[in-house]
Formats: sequence, structure tokens, C-alpha cells
Amino acid sequence: MGGQQSTQFPDGVPIGGACDTVSGPAAAPDCLVRIRGLSFSRGAQVIFDRVDLDIARGAVTAVMGPSGTGKTTLLKLISGQLRPDAGSIEVDGEPVETLGRSALYKLRRRMGMLFQSGALLTDLSVFDNVAYPLREHTKLNPAMVRKLVLLKLEAVGLRGARDLMPSALSGGMARRVALARAIALDPMMILYDEPFTGQDPISMGVLVTLIRQLNDASGLTSIVVSHDVRETASIADYMYIISNGKVMAQGTPAQIAAERSEWVRQFMDGLPDGPVHFQYPAPSLAADLLVRGVG
Ligand SMILES: Nc1ncnc2c1ncn2[C@@H]1O[C@H](COP(=O)(O)OP(=O)(O)OP(=O)(O)O)[C@@H](O)[C@H]1O
Ligand SMILES: [Mg+2]
Repeated sequence: MGGQQSTQFPDGVPIGGACDTVSGPAAAPDCLVRIRGLSFSRGAQVIFDRVDLDIARGAVTAVMGPSGTGKTTLLKLISGQLRPDAGSIEVDGEPVETLGRSALYKLRRRMGMLFQSGALLTDLSVFDNVAYPLREHTKLNPAMVRKLVLLKLEAVGLRGARDLMPSALSGGMARRVALARAIALDPMMILYDEPFTGQDPISMGVLVTLIRQLNDASGLTSIVVSHDVRETASIADYMYIISNGKVMAQGTPAQIAAERSEWVRQFMDGLPDGPVHFQYPAPSLAADLLVRGVG
């Protein structure tokens, strides 16, 4: 654990990697997303340095790591909104990094995205928000759209709220409507970016359960990027912890819980100080305070 997967079967399936550890009825032991040698920088800042990462089909895979480490960037790379500097990103067998605009657009329609900032359209009702992608991207007749919208809203427990306007929803309800909208086109995969942020413990619990249930009931594949260690570990089949451009640890939640590396323990247990320092590097406070007449 802690290193990159490098051992391969002749056909390229990593040994003991994320794609072999899936459980549950919807699981199939193959990769929906296969990332190899991914490097990506922004200016002088290296965000990913030759990262390998697998997302197993049918599984809930968590990607965790400190703020600013590149989790949102990773989702953007997987969905083709950003192109890597080096390496390959394969989604359902398609090389995202080399796809042309129309192929990429087609592939992206098969990925539902629930970004933290993915707000609802405020001048449309709950129903119309969920109907929006169906009206935009399909030629389904109104009766079919209605049926699908009601089914999606039923799946998130909000069929009864279909006539409400977004301003009448709680934060947790709005998140669930956004989720119904994200699954409107029956994607193969959903990318969640911080789905629990700003939720009270109850609606957080509802969302946690919902993500798992939707994944299993609809045969989805889910990638959950989150800071909420406990909630995320409770539904993940496999976890990656990334930092400093690398995969610092990976494994099932049980394997991560047993991981003894000081860095991983600090992150998972939420300790304020450890190998990751709370303080930006500085001379000792005493030395600093004793220096007079400067600063
Ligand atoms: N458009 C951009 N231009 C330049 N730098 C960016 C841009 N977007 C992100 N970055 C930088 O890339 C790094 C990774 O950002 P990213 O948003 O992926 O982090 P993150 O892990 O999602 O953080 P958080 O947990 O706070 O959401 C950060 O240092 C950020 O400052
Ligand atoms: Mg982010």
C-alpha cells in the first residue's frame, strides 16, 4: 500500500488493484476508468506526477486528500474538461485525452456530475430542473419525460416536492434534486464533488445512503470526492488518498483503517498536526517574538 500499482497481468489488469476488490451485486471485476502515468501541472505547480488509478465498474470509489491537492482537477481530467500533460485516461475503453469534441461530448453525457457548485436553475421548478437534461438532450415526448422525471424524483425521495421552486428547498433537498437531475439521462457513472459539504448530520446521512443505494440499484459507478472521512469510508468499496501529486495510500476502507503510515493516520483521524504541518514553515515563535523593532 502507498505505492503505485505497477505489476500487471499480460492483458493489463492490475494485480490486487481497485478493480479486483469490488463486492456487491452490481459489481463486475473490471475497470470503468483506467488512469496510467497521469501528469498534470498548472504553471510551476505539479498537481499530478505519474499517477495510476483505477475506478472499478459498479463500485463506489472515494478520492480523498487535503484541500488543494487536485481532487476536483482529477474529476475534470476524467470528464475531459482538462487534458493531461502526460499519461492516459481511459473511460469505458475510450481514451478521453485524445477524443475529439463530439466524441467527448457523447461520452460526457454518460457521466453524471454533482459538483458542489452545481446549483439548480432558480427560475425553474424542481420538476423542470430534472426534466431539463431530458428536454435538452433527447427527443422524448412530454409523457415520457414526465414519467422519467417522476421516477428520478422518487429515487431521491422528492416526488412530492416536484412543484416547489428551488428557493423553497432546504440545502439537503436541493442537493437531492441536483442528484435526480444528474441521473436523468441514466449515466453509467456519477462524479460527486464534495456532496456532503454544508449538510447537517441527518441530511448528510440521507445523502450517504442515497449515493450507495443509487449506485447499487441502478448499476452505476460512483466516484466520490470528499473531505468527510467517516461518511465516505462508510459507503466506499475502495479509497484513494492523494497528496503532493501522488497516491499516498489506497485500499478498501478496512485496509486504509489498518494503514499505519503517520501521514495517512493524520489525515484519516483528522489530527491538527503531524507530518502535515498546521503551521506554514517559520522560525520558532519564541525567536520571532524576541526580535524587537522589526516586522
Ligand atoms: N483554474 C485554475 N487555475 C490555476 N490553478 C488552479 C485552477 N484550478 C485549480 N487550481 C490549483 O490547482 C490545485 C488543485 O486544485 P483542486 O481544486 O483540484 O483541489 P482540491 O483537491 O479539489 O481542493 P479542495 O479540497 O479545496 O476542493 C490548487 O492548488 C489550485 O489552486
Ligand atoms: Mg475540490
